[in-house]
Amino acid sequence: MPPTTGIPQGQREARISSHSHIKGLGLDDDGFAHADRSGFVGQRAAREACGLVLELIRSRRFSGRALLLAGAPGTGKTALALAVAQELGHKVPFCPMVGSEVFSSEVKKTEVLMENFRRAIGLRVKETKEVYEGEVTELTPAETENPLSGYGKTISHVVVALKTAKGTKQLRLDPSIYESIQKERVQIGDVIYIEANTGAVKRVGRSDAYATEYDLEAEEYVPLPKGDVHKKKEIVQDVTLHDLDMANARPQGGQDIMSVMGQLVKGRRTEVTDKLRAEINKVVNSYIEQGIAELIPGVLFIDEVHMLDIEAFTYLNRALESTMSPHVILATNRGLTTIRGTESEPGYGGGEGIVSPHGVPIDLLDRCMIVRTLPYQRDEIKTVLQTRVKVEGLAIQPEALDKLADDGIRTSLRYALQLLTPASILSRVQGRTEITLADVAETDELFLDARSSARGLQERGEGQYLR
Ligand SMILES: Nc1ncnc2c1ncn2[C@@H]1O[C@H](COP(=O)(O)OP(=O)(O)OP(=O)(O)O)[C@@H](O)[C@H]1O
Ligand SMILES: [Mg+2]
Repeated sequence: MPPTTGIPQGQREARISSHSHIKGLGLDDDGFAHADRSGFVGQRAAREACGLVLELIRSRRFSGRALLLAGAPGTGKTALALAVAQELGHKVPFCPMVGSEVFSSEVKKTEVLMENFRRAIGLRVKETKEVYEGEVTELTPAETENPLSGYGKTISHVVVALKTAKGTKQLRLDPSIYESIQKERVQIGDVIYIEANTGAVKRVGRSDAYATEYDLEAEEYVPLPKGDVHKKKEIVQDVTLHDLDMANARPQGGQDIMSVMGQLVKGRRTEVTDKLRAEINKVVNSYIEQGIAELIPGVLFIDEVHMLDIEAFTYLNRALESTMSPHVILATNRGLTTIRGTESEPGYGGGEGIVSPHGVPIDLLDRCMIVRTLPYQRDEIKTVLQTRVKVEGLAIQPEALDKLADDGIRTSLRYALQLLTPASILSRVQGRTEITLADVAETDELFLDARSSARGLQERGEGQYLR
């Protein structure tokens, strides 16, 4: 599972799914990279450098700095950033964004950056609460005639039986709790807990006993709780500062953590303002001082960082130095290029703008630890292709794999990887279960890689416009 990110989950997951074979940096205890481990192949120097950055992050010595990954397209920069985030742990926020995202007609550039900064900072709230927890063995709503209208029925109470390893307890609950139970889609066989004070219901997962019902499903199985049904339990919840901003901007009723958190700051609001953020920071800080909450700085990954402009870079400099900052990883595939937003400045090289390595201003570069990614060898491309074949549940003939590896050398690793899926579709259409050389050759004919496309355009004199 990818690390938790901000609100638009689906969108952000989709963006990293081509990296689903990457499970970490694949380093051993001494920080050396294995040739092929955790899904990562080759690129050893860069992986070891990232491992060192990881050490700095873990020992809290990376503040005020950023990691800049620089290298040609398809050399694994995004994959490295993702691997660093994965190594930091399961519940550590990871917020990927692209430099050009800051240019929106509705929201200020710095606002977009600030929002993403806050998406990448987690808050872990720990509370000890009195709860009833166990596997649901009975769930019966009791109905009565509606006393007001005489028509229809209403729920008078609900009987829930919870089972733990130690025993079973039957509870008679208020109808409002029944609503929460329905909201969480609780069924017999689920493990749930009910908070004694608020009546909030939380579904933990499905009980282990039901684990063999289906071969494949998106369920989380949990063991039968130990101890008594009625007990004190430490409840840990992870939210991001952005979640808190949003919850307080649009307060709503309810009993779950988000709505309780939504009442941190009083008054009705509809928009996240600097003032609101400052108030939330204050509350968060007091929580941290009281030991209820802990700040979990995650990773903010800004891809195509050369797309940011000078204004955004200046903001980034300042944000890096604030006390509440996530770990920032930047990536770019540009060499020397003009810093965006400096072109029109009169004093700077007459309309040419300031040219800087990676299109990043020197003062930010100064704060960066720069890691280079190198192009891949043929056998490395082959190994990545093999991994991907396995992850996607495909099969491929050796000759076809060789051809794809050749393609990868000629174009890029990404291009070769991208041919896999269409080739597998072609082979399936032909009624085959394995991708053959013919399938790869056919896909190659159907699609152009970037370089041949550019060459073709030049040859036909269509350099500027397609005819
Ligand atoms: N060393 C590696 N081992 C395994 N898979 C890799 C490796 N490097 C890259 N990949 C895979 O190759 C594909 C392209 O890599 P990635 O997207 O990380 O390139 P990039 O450097 O970010 O390129 P761009 O500059 O175009 O953004 C991804 O699917 C990635 O998971
Ligand atoms: Mg990338």
